[in-house]
Amino acid sequence: MLATLLFSSPVYCSNKEWCTALIVNNKVVAVFLELYMYTIDSIKLNGEVEHQCSIDSVIARTLAGELIVVRKGMQDLELFDQSVDLVINSIEAVCGSDVAAAVKRDGVEKIHVHVALDQVEAVYANARVELALKMPAVTAKTFESLGVKQDFYVHDASLIRLMMPYDVMKSKQKEFQKHLGKLTLHGPHHDHYQNVPINAINTWTAVGRVDSDNGMLIFPDVWGKNLPLENGEIRPDQHLGRPITLDMNPGDILIFHSNHMHASRINSTNETRVVLTNRICLDKPEYPDAARPQKYFLSSAFPADLDLSAIFSLKGFVGDKRKHLKTGLSKAVHKIATKVGLDFVKYPVETSTAISLEPIAITQLDEQLSEGQIAVVDDKTCATKVDGKVISFGRKCPHQGADLALGFIENGKVFCPHHGLTLCLKTGEASCSSIKSLRVEAIEV
Ligand code: FES
Ligand SMILES: [Fe+2]
Repeated sequence: MLATLLFSSPVYCSNKEWCTALIVNNKVVAVFLELYMYTIDSIKLNGEVEHQCSIDSVIARTLAGELIVVRKGMQDLELFDQSVDLVINSIEAVCGSDVAAAVKRDGVEKIHVHVALDQVEAVYANARVELALKMPAVTAKTFESLGVKQDFYVHDASLIRLMMPYDVMKSKQKEFQKHLGKLTLHGPHHDHYQNVPINAINTWTAVGRVDSDNGMLIFPDVWGKNLPLENGEIRPDQHLGRPITLDMNPGDILIFHSNHMHASRINSTNETRVVLTNRICLDKPEYPDAARPQKYFLSSAFPADLDLSAIFSLKGFVGDKRKHLKTGLSKAVHKIATKVGLDFVKYPVETSTAISLEPIAITQLDEQLSEGQIAVVDDKTCATKVDGKVISFGRKCPHQGADLALGFIENGKVFCPHHGLTLCLKTGEASCSSIKSLRVEAIEV
């Protein structure tokens, strides 16, 4: 008689261990333990978190808009200490060894305590040069180890993002504006506003702690929508919905599709948030403006036997520069396409999410407002109901003037939709003390 022999699908048993059973004639005869490299969480568009996702599903989930967090991914790649050292070495090069030693001792979260504000830009520039030499190889290896087998495209622009507490960096805000999203806040945007390919996938790697109060805001409600712009920025009447905010530990790698609307959250903590970013395209990059392609490497530009842990100690670029591709459609092709009326530009569907903001008379507020709902009273004033009491408040965010009527109420505070400042509805106080308070008033109705 022939025995029926099969292997069960892998079952998760403990941290990074999975087991597969060998089954003969319906009886388990052996169990094999397998060690997996990564611990992966996925955050779905509805905010639900699925822990311990399989590596096989990472790319499909990312393309579907889920946010992937590879927990302690840099430690698993044996690159965590090296990535911290890259930042410390840049500090040493600009500020000297005493300052570098102090940051090493207290953690990169305390950069703002030890590095003078005037030196931050130089530290950023120094680290950026080092990253350009090393990070593309790291990114290529990361996605290969996440199961991407075919050749893909790796962006050559790896960035460091040093977001200091807002109250500390405020005086430099104007000066840092040219480093939008790296040294200062980037409001809600799609990366394709900067001509990032619409098929790009981002990596966002925590070098130090990332707190939900100093990280990124990602707006799942507008996933797949291309909101109308005004002067290159999202039109101010657009409703973005509640963002997802994330806490990440040092070494965690966040992977997300660049077509997510996202923003930097104003840093109301007393820690500097340090992350490294890079991106890939699985297929040929598709640019909103094909005449301005960016530079990518093919993933095969990096040696297959590259020792990851050696990358950071190597001087110079680790790979094959001949495979440094200026990808996308060439200017000439673009010109011809335009001439004959071909449209090579693909965008997510353009959709306005403006909502009707009909004012409600003050006398009607108690009756018409439900708990936590925001209503417009007039051009300058909104109202909400908290613990059964109607409270009116200024409509303009005291940070950069976003319309708080499009925000939301959480724990007795109004949350600004643009950079996530929160304002207390009892005192008007902002989550960053250097920002002036909001006008709030309890109203008798
Ligand atoms: S937090 Fe920036 S405009 Fe409100
Ligand atoms: Fe971005």
